[in-house]
Amino acid sequence: TFVVTENCIKCKYTDCVEVCPVDCFYEGPNFLVIHPDECIDCALCEPECPAEAIFAEDELPESQQEFIEINAELAEEWPNISEKQDPLPDAEEWDGKPGKRELLER
Ligand code: SF4
Ligand code: F3S
Repeated sequence: TFVVTENCIKCKYTDCVEVCPVDCFYEGPNFLVIHPDECIDCALCEPECPAEAIFAEDELPESQQEFIEINAELAEEWPNISEKQDPLPDAEEWDGKPGKRELLER
């Protein structure tokens, strides 16, 4: 399965949702997640993310391991998103900033 990681927070570009053949992205206030049971591992979303926030689970950096659980949990709570929308207003400014994990809104 593929996993959305920290750098999506406060960016939420949403280019990823447009290419997903099974519409398995779910949307929160400032972050998206992938439903691990619905993702078919096609890898199409990974290169689409301008923030490079999407990784295959087995290629996740050590610092991002907790996002496996975060994606699984929030995909059950948040609504589905299948159409691209505008990024969050300060997406460019937040892209690449460290320490965004604490800013994840539920
Ligand atoms: Fe969707 Fe494919 Fe990305 Fe999984 S890997 S979330 S199926 S686009
Ligand atoms: Fe987030 Fe990248 Fe998609 S910033 S919304 S994972 S395109």
